Amino acid sequence: AEDGYDLWLRYRPLDAAQAQTGRSHVAQLVAPAATPTQRAARDELRRGLRGLLGADPGTADAVDRAGALVVGTPASSAAIARLGLDLDGLGDEGFVIRSVEVDGRAATVIAANSDIGTLYGAFRFLRMLQTRQPLAALDLRDAPALDLRLLDHWDNLDRHVERGYAGQSIWDWHKLPDWRDPRYTDYARANASLGINGTVLNNVNASAQSLTPMYLEKAAALAGVFRPYGIRVYLSARFSAPREIGGLDTADPLDPRVRRWWRDKADEIYRLIPDFGGFLVKANSEGQPGPQDYGRTHADGANMLADAVAPHGGVVMWRAFVYSHEEPEDRAKQAYSEFVPLDGQFRENVMVQVKNGAIDFQPREPFHPLFGAMPDTPLMMEFQITKEYLGFATHLVYLGTLFEEVLEADTYQQGKGSTVAKVIDGSLHGHGLTGMAGVANIGSDRNWSGSIFDQANWYAFGRLAWDPHASARAIAGDWARMTFSNDDGFVGPVVDMMMGSRQAAVDYMTPLGLHHLMGEGHHYGPAPWVEGGPRADWTSVYYHRATPEGIGFDRSSGGSDAVAQYADPVARVFDDPKQVPEDLLLWFHHVPWDWRMRSGRTLWDELVHRYSRGVAYVRGMRETWSGLAPYVDAERHAEVAAFLAIQEQEAQWWRDASIAYFRTFSQRPLPEGEAPPP
Ligand code: GCU
Repeated sequence: AEDGYDLWLRYRPLDAAQAQTGRSHVAQLVAPAATPTQRAARDELRRGLRGLLGADPGTADAVDRAGALVVGTPASSAAIARLGLDLDGLGDEGFVIRSVEVDGRAATVIAANSDIGTLYGAFRFLRMLQTRQPLAALDLRDAPALDLRLLDHWDNLDRHVERGYAGQSIWDWHKLPDWRDPRYTDYARANASLGINGTVLNNVNASAQSLTPMYLEKAAALAGVFRPYGIRVYLSARFSAPREIGGLDTADPLDPRVRRWWRDKADEIYRLIPDFGGFLVKANSEGQPGPQDYGRTHADGANMLADAVAPHGGVVMWRAFVYSHEEPEDRAKQAYSEFVPLDGQFRENVMVQVKNGAIDFQPREPFHPLFGAMPDTPLMMEFQITKEYLGFATHLVYLGTLFEEVLEADTYQQGKGSTVAKVIDGSLHGHGLTGMAGVANIGSDRNWSGSIFDQANWYAFGRLAWDPHASARAIAGDWARMTFSNDDGFVGPVVDMMMGSRQAAVDYMTPLGLHHLMGEGHHYGPAPWVEGGPRADWTSVYYHRATPEGIGFDRSSGGSDAVAQYADPVARVFDDPKQVPEDLLLWFHHVPWDWRMRSGRTLWDELVHRYSRGVAYVRGMRETWSGLAPYVDAERHAEVAAFLAIQEQEAQWWRDASIAYFRTFSQRPLPEGEAPPP
């Protein structure tokens, strides 16, 4: 059934002519199968080729006909060793795919320095077939730009997924370690097809239980499934674990007993999982325990854990998502204020993991001011793939454009061209340790992500983690081809629809720089009216600050001065309401309702216009999608259509509720032709 389980690895038959060309380039498969990773590569190729070409090319030990596909490393394949290919600079994960001659016969090689490189090359070759790339005269060379390409699962041990909209956790802790669900292998295949090479199994709001022997054995079982696919397991560590499961009365990172406990814990983990990746930590944020509970700094805490895993080659990813309600400072400023003074104080195996924006995964935020501002500390990007603030699983919102916008943003920290991507890939400040994490949108749903189009966000994340300079449009195109159809009549309209979908969500939820106006707690649907509650920064009115005079959060030099956390000229541009990009106007400025926008409209009229524009875009997506029925199987077509109908209703809900509410402040009529909220 076309239920989405196969993700982008569908391998449906090519048409007859293409299959024939394909078969002429893969007349036989010469691929070693001595190691688990070699077998994974060979099995994937056989599975893919059988599906795409309609015939299993069969395997051979040596090339004995024209059109062989030869896979391996100089160590695993005599044919590849004899070719003397230039594999320098590819590292352990890069590969080449080339058209060559082997013993006078035309062949294609997928070659790398390591088995994992060949596995990545195998997936790339299949992608080329899936997206109908030419197979002649190939000369492709690729390697990942980042070291750590990770999914962060916010999965609890009871299988509830924090901010998960695709069912329960896929980790069936109860049946692990003895039952290894075949789904874990498919998870690994999907990730390896993108080059994702690590997974943090448990929620950042971590339970100390995950570090107990019973759960470590379960984690080790998962690590065993993932290992052939180049995926390492990491765990979120609860900072107070020495007290909760270690029998100590403190978790003070400078206490020798605490340090010993963590060293012993790390040794225990590495005995079970020799290639364990390391720890992810959320500390002193939203009530989580941390070093500040003992008057210590984030660096003290991170370094203590870093020392524990260092002998085994592990890393610590210490999150910069910190804020505290006892702190009256603008929440957008707190991470920078806490972390910049610590620059240079972290161990070499620590990365500070920074969300893309300073508040919290909003539909649009300016890039986080920490990027580029900690030259002596490697910063790791944290994106959110699950759509906590973007309509959960039923809204079609392609996040490739959000990720791209952040990565392309210029911090100017080392002059023009100091993009976030260059901070992340280590090139701006010469860091050797680099990475990107995505908060996973994966669950037990048949289709993994809660909707077919949310698979595209997992896909886009993986592709950008491999190459943060890649194009969101090209990625959407590949995904659409692999997931649905290569027909240009389909790909063009679908990619266009995806590319505008995130701006549409911004428009119908939080246009012009508004933010955090979602329903309290669950973050679904509009609730700009929320006030009171346990803390100011968990209310909406804290963020929009609407009054009869105007609307917006004044973060200019006359306000909270968050703009000063950016380098010039970014700071100057953001500080000036006439220069700031209008998409960020109300993020940085409190502006009168009659403020003149570049469109010539007043702010109030523009706000209403944007809300309506967002709704209209969703209506347009429904029309586009209904016209694409001929290209898509009925099952997936119907689900997407039904979800788009939900999205249109809810976009309308957002518009109407927001306009009705903000009108109580603006006290202005709706612009001509705008329907009043019911
Ligand atoms: C958001 C989210 C929480 C999550 C937190 C985090 O605030 O709503 O559920 O725990 O981010 O990233 O730590």
